[in-house]
Amino acid sequence: MKQDGFSSKLGFVLAAAGSAVGLGNIWRFPYLTAKYGGGIFLLTYVILVLTFGYALLISENAIGRMTGKSPIGAFRDLCAGKKSFLGSVRIGGWVNSVVPMIILPYYCVIGGWVTKYVVALAVNPVSNFHKDAVVNGQSASAAYFVDFISNPADSTIYFIAFVIITALVVACGVEKGIERFNKILMPMLVLLIIGICVYCMFLPNAEAGFKYYLKPDVSKFSYMTVVAAMGQLFFSLSIAMGIMITYGTYMREKDDLVSSVNHVELFDTGVSFLAGMMIIPAVVAFGGEKAAESAGPGLIFITMPQVFASFPGGSIFGVLFFILVLFAAATSAVSLMETNVHTISQELKISRKKAITCVLGEVFAIGVITVLGYSVLKNIKPLFFISKYQNMDILDTLDFISNSVLMPIGAIFTTVLVVAVIGLEKFSEHIKSDKPWYREYIYQLCMSIVVIPCLLVVLLNATGILN
Ligand code: PFF
Repeated sequence: MKQDGFSSKLGFVLAAAGSAVGLGNIWRFPYLTAKYGGGIFLLTYVILVLTFGYALLISENAIGRMTGKSPIGAFRDLCAGKKSFLGSVRIGGWVNSVVPMIILPYYCVIGGWVTKYVVALAVNPVSNFHKDAVVNGQSASAAYFVDFISNPADSTIYFIAFVIITALVVACGVEKGIERFNKILMPMLVLLIIGICVYCMFLPNAEAGFKYYLKPDVSKFSYMTVVAAMGQLFFSLSIAMGIMITYGTYMREKDDLVSSVNHVELFDTGVSFLAGMMIIPAVVAFGGEKAAESAGPGLIFITMPQVFASFPGGSIFGVLFFILVLFAAATSAVSLMETNVHTISQELKISRKKAITCVLGEVFAIGVITVLGYSVLKNIKPLFFISKYQNMDILDTLDFISNSVLMPIGAIFTTVLVVAVIGLEKFSEHIKSDKPWYREYIYQLCMSIVVIPCLLVVLLNATGILN
């Protein structure tokens, strides 16, 4: 991307939505929703997106637009001349920049799983994944997934394949290539998801699944619902990762920031909602609420092939579905990679080429260790010294450290920057255009009193103090 700005408001919305819509919506959201009680998680998530997520999303974009700098430079400039505590807020720029470096390797690992499933559904009869097929006492679909991730060679090859696909997308040109692909493939993905949702409505037993997804059951609410929803919100909206600050720098002063952010928020949450509609009723229909509550990262890889096996032409739709998910994942991975390359080349003052080599080196090193965490390195539990997390595998640990620890810290810095360093009133004036800003009050309320206590709860939970 060049620093000359997006050609139109639509250009910004598409680029930001392309970055936001990815594995977070289709892979992460459905399994968290299934695990944390269905409807109550959905409700908590939507409320948080509309208040808390909105406040941070708009703040980050405005910081970018105001300074024209990526996170480290933006924090540094805004804190310049401030003493003691306010001066030290500049560290926030670094926190926001480290997060995407942790996420990218494991994002590519999941991208590798998606790549594998494009091939798996193309070469195997889809009936192999039928919900009634059983292998060694477990469902054939689950057995296939576990076999795959615990095979070191196979899973490493697909991880590398995904990194290569991502690099190819970059090679097609971030501006023209991705924008054009996005315009065609994203609507296709959404249409396919809607089609699958409609099919799932007619699955025997689907009613119980829809009820589980859409009807909040308050007895399933705990503060973990809030903690998980908050981590998901960061991941899905791409906040506390520097990316939205960077995108804000491409916005022009005259663009209406409020309505652009509204579009990104709506689109991202809409896709997550549909992904949940597609998968959760199917999980409940095939395995009951128990299966939903024990869902984990393997959910779409286990349940979606079962759905495809149960309908005519399932293998074609299965392959198409995973190709579209692959594309959504690749566009998001590209934006993560861009962010990292940009930060490293600017801060270490090295060429883009060298920065790309550094980023690829890091992705391969951490990614391969993560992949092997399900086979050769499966006894490695990085957080073994904290009793609550002693069984966490490598991928979950990276996800946990980024989403539950570093992102809340990064977001606290952003909030302090807006409220104490810049000043909330002054900042709100910068955000406003000549059109009315209906959520200004919610924005100010969230930034001044809601965001920091919520983030502290997430952090205290992560450290185990709240348990
Ligand atoms: N928001 C993306 C998703 O939901 O998959 C993940 C992501 C992409 C995060 C790009 C950050 C980012 F810069």
